[in-house]
Amino acid sequence: MKEQVPPPFEPATTSSPVDLRADSVSALRRNVKRRSFLRGLGAAGAVVPMGGLLATKANAAPSKPTKGDIAILQFLLAVELIETDLWQQYNELGGVNGGNPAYIAALSNLDGDMPQYIADNTDDEMSHSTFLKAYLESIGANPVSLDNFRNLPSSHATGARNVGRLTNLQALNVDLSWYTRYRGTGNPDLGAAFNSPFAITNQPAIPLNNSDTPPDTSIPDPNDTPGSQFTGAVARMQAIANTAGFHFAFIEQGGASLYTTMSLKATSLEVLRIIVSIGGAEINHFSVWHDKAGNAVSQPLAGVVDPVSKLKFPDLNNSPFGGESFQTNLIMPEPCQFLRADLPECSVIRPSSTALGGAVATIKAFTDDLLFFNQPPAFLSLLMDLAVAADAAERLG
Ligand SMILES: [Fe+2]
Ligand SMILES: [Fe+2]
Repeated sequence: MKEQVPPPFEPATTSSPVDLRADSVSALRRNVKRRSFLRGLGAAGAVVPMGGLLATKANAAPSKPTKGDIAILQFLLAVELIETDLWQQYNELGGVNGGNPAYIAALSNLDGDMPQYIADNTDDEMSHSTFLKAYLESIGANPVSLDNFRNLPSSHATGARNVGRLTNLQALNVDLSWYTRYRGTGNPDLGAAFNSPFAITNQPAIPLNNSDTPPDTSIPDPNDTPGSQFTGAVARMQAIANTAGFHFAFIEQGGASLYTTMSLKATSLEVLRIIVSIGGAEINHFSVWHDKAGNAVSQPLAGVVDPVSKLKFPDLNNSPFGGESFQTNLIMPEPCQFLRADLPECSVIRPSSTALGGAVATIKAFTDDLLFFNQPPAFLSLLMDLAVAADAAERLG
């Protein structure tokens, strides 16, 4: 006998729309009755012991920011001021209204939308620092100022403003371990270690001056001239733009881990809301830059060699690379170990431990990056004091 199979997409019951509404109304009535019944208990609502109610209230997270919450926000403000400073430098030269045509063209070889994304990321960082400063002031807490340390030199290339900077982008060590970390199934919080696929050391991420990289250099489209055939000032400018692409992702993956780590320490729900909401934007930034950086190490742009530093951007899709640890379009976080090795793998931000993703770890990573090269010890000790206080914050209640 032929089995009767209900046709697809048909409701299991034969209720007409009117019937369905009637069902909803009777369900609503049942709920109302239930609520009336509870209300009818009146004082007998004390079926929930008063002690239990008080305990519930006491356990609720206080909305007033704690000392620890303020330490977290002060540190995050310092980080956002640092991010704002570095993104402004990128934006002046390579943003959609940037002033260096050859740098903009080289960045656009990574993706035609790069200049717009750079401008937007800059706006985001400015909004983060402005908001955090205003919020701290609104609750009577001291905002952090790094203005006394805006003394590092600007680029001399066309497009850069001649103002003092907080951060150095003219010679960077860019840690690329995030690239393999987000493709691996191990988690640094559980002891996994990841190596950079290749090394970027002492390399500029912005043009230095007009003799090294003339701003009117004609940068070819790699679809016409593969990156492996770039030479001279063209190769130099493209290597600088490629370095920027990887540096963008390095900075923002750090932000993704930092905000995740700090969220676990917040007590006030309002402060938690700030942390997870800004943190989400940092994760979004990382995701975009992860995708764009991959275009520097895949065809047709792969193979650029900086004629000055000899840095080569290899093709990570081919030997001796290739496979899931290097494939350039695997930009979604691979599921990895999380919390405990006996649990199923899970696609998550990592690290999220204080030791590896916290405030001190962030300042250490930025220092190793040479972002603070030539800043005086007082600058680093201010940042470290803020970082230690933020890492020490504990969720109360
Ligand atoms: Fe930010
Ligand atoms: Fe950011």
